Amino acid sequence: MSAKLIVQGLTHHYPDEYTGETVHALDAIDLKVEEGELVTVVGPSGCGKSTLLNILAGLLPYEAGAVSVDGVPIRGPGSDRGVVFQEHAILPWRTVTRNIGHGLEIKNVPKHVREPKVQAFVDLVGLTGFEGKYPHELSGGMKQRCAVARTLCADPAIMLMDEPFAAVDAQTRITLQEELNRIAIATKKTIMFITHSVDEAAFLGDRCFVFSARPGKIKTIVDIDIPRERRNWNDMNADSVFLAARARILKLVREEVADVVEE
Ligand SMILES: Nc1ncnc2c1ncn2[C@@H]1O[C@H](COP(=O)(O)OP(=O)(O)OP(=O)(O)O)[C@@H](O)[C@H]1O
Ligand SMILES: [Mg+2]
Repeated sequence: MSAKLIVQGLTHHYPDEYTGETVHALDAIDLKVEEGELVTVVGPSGCGKSTLLNILAGLLPYEAGAVSVDGVPIRGPGSDRGVVFQEHAILPWRTVTRNIGHGLEIKNVPKHVREPKVQAFVDLVGLTGFEGKYPHELSGGMKQRCAVARTLCADPAIMLMDEPFAAVDAQTRITLQEELNRIAIATKKTIMFITHSVDEAAFLGDRCFVFSARPGKIKTIVDIDIPRERRNWNDMNADSVFLAARARILKLVREEVADVVEE
């Protein structure tokens, strides 16, 4: 069986308006993500992580290479790919329920089918009791839960997440990580998760793609062979496989940052 997401030889340059030169953001990226896998992506700031995600989301045209989901080439945005960004992608004028069910409303899914499905996602992300609230009445963590549920409810083939938990406090962040792990178990979604946090990358990833400094290339892939059911922060802090993976990822990322500083 072929992989869910396949990226081959993906290269991207941005024009620089001021100098007339180009910024080489991605250099011949090759990667595969298997069905049901959660991969994390880490690398120094500016190495091209968001560029990769925006290309996969279909928001940015790419100049060279091939990208496909379920064998279908990516040519623009599509409902097969759900995206969660750092800023909450929820609509301020819609309640929690109507944000989460928005995709189903657009598809004209009848109310009696939509409502139980939306409620299941409200419950899954722990927003039970807040169904009628508007985004301004929610905490940062709750807004992100709402954004995750909104994306999941549209049932994309793959979820693309770009630093989704970066703006919340440390305590909420570890709770959201544990919740995403639980969601990954419950839904078996294929997920690509970009983060700056080495802890987060090691905690969530089945594999972690460590990027080199710009132009972004995959430097090393670190396997994190820990069953999802065992992943919770109380246990991981004393888990030798987790600690070894985290130390390895940290070392790989720091080498890249040191190179950037020396340049
Ligand atoms: N729209 C754009 N126009 C021109 N250059 C851009 C644009 N977006 C990104 N870049 C450049 O491309 C490079 C990669 O940027 P990108 O946002 O993909 O990095 P990143 O790995 O996501 O960084 P961070 O970890 O800080 O979010 C950077 O040098 C950036 O300045
Ligand atoms: Mg980024």
